[in-house]
Amino acid sequence: MPAISASAPGKIILFGEHAVVYNRPAIAVPVLQVSAHATIVADPLAPPHTVWIEAPMIGLSSRLEDLDSEHPIRVIFRLVMEKLNISHFPSAKVKLTSTIPIASGLGSSSATSVALTRVISTFLGRPFPDEAVNQVAFETEKIHHGHPSGIDNTVTTFARPIYYVKDQPMRWLTVGEPLVLVIGDSGEASSTAAVVSDLRQRWSQAPEAYEPLFDRVGEVAVRAREAIDHGDLAETGRLMSQNHALLQDLDVSSNKLDQLVLAAMKAGALGAKMSGGGRGGNMIALAQNENEAVEIAGTLEAAGAVHALITTVPTSGGKP
Ligand code: MEV
Repeated sequence: MPAISASAPGKIILFGEHAVVYNRPAIAVPVLQVSAHATIVADPLAPPHTVWIEAPMIGLSSRLEDLDSEHPIRVIFRLVMEKLNISHFPSAKVKLTSTIPIASGLGSSSATSVALTRVISTFLGRPFPDEAVNQVAFETEKIHHGHPSGIDNTVTTFARPIYYVKDQPMRWLTVGEPLVLVIGDSGEASSTAAVVSDLRQRWSQAPEAYEPLFDRVGEVAVRAREAIDHGDLAETGRLMSQNHALLQDLDVSSNKLDQLVLAAMKAGALGAKMSGGGRGGNMIALAQNENEAVEIAGTLEAAGAVHALITTVPTSGGKP
C-alpha cells in the first residue's frame, strides 16, 4: 500500500478568543501558509501491531504503545479505532511534521490532530468525513487544554472562515472585502491550556467581574461579523482594537504583545490585537492593502517580533 498523507492549515482567531469558551461568539480564519502534515505507511516487516511514531518538531520518536495512555497521539488512534470498531492497528510508520510554530496561538495542536485523524481513518479504509474528523480533534483538544471551545479544531478541519458559537451549528463567515492581515510572532511561547485555566480560576472566584467583559467581547464579535460581511475594513479594524483592550482587561495579553499592537497601529494598521490564548504567541494587525501590510510587517520585526507573516482572507466568492 502506498503512503497516505494529509494536512491541515494553521488558524488565527480574529475576534472573541477566551469569551468563546464561555459561549460567546467568535470569528476565526485558516492560515494556509502554514500547515501540519501526517503520513502513514504500512510496515510489513515490523512485529504485528507495531506503530512507530516520528514527530521531529516535538522531538518524539516512539512506539505508539510506549506513549502515555493519555498522550494526544495515542488518544487519536484510540478514538478512530473505536469509531471503526477495530481492536488492533496494522503495523505502520507514522510521520508528523509541521510548519506551524508550536505554542504560538496558530493552532498547531488542532492541525496535527486533524491531519493525523485523516491519515489513520484513510489507512484503515474508511476515510472520515470532516464532521467525524472535527469530533476526534475536539476530543483531543480537551486533553491539550481542559475546556476548549472547539473553535480551533473546527476552523482547521474545515479550512474556511467561521463565525462560531460553542454548541451551536457552525456558520461560515461571509467576507465582503479581502482582509489583509499581518501576523506578528512575539517569540514568547505560551500555553493556551495555562492561560485558559488561569482565567477559569479567576472567573469561578468572581464571575460578576468577568461575565460583563465576556458579554462585551461577544458584542464586538457580533458587530465584527457584520462589518466583515459588509466589507467595512475601517470598522473591522476599530473592533479589533476594542477587542484587544477587552483582552487586556481579561489580563490575557502581555507587555510584548501590547507593544507589538501599538507598533502596528503607529505603522498605520486599521486595527490590531493579540490572537489566540495570549500571554505570548501571536498578534494580528489589519492592513489597508498588501503594500501597507509589508510596511507593518517590517515595523513589527523592528519592534521585536521574531517573525511577521502576511495572510489574506479572500472574499467569500473566492476573489483574492
Ligand atoms: C485558542 O486559540 C482560543 C481560546 O479561546 C481557547 C478556546 O477557544 O478553546 C483561548
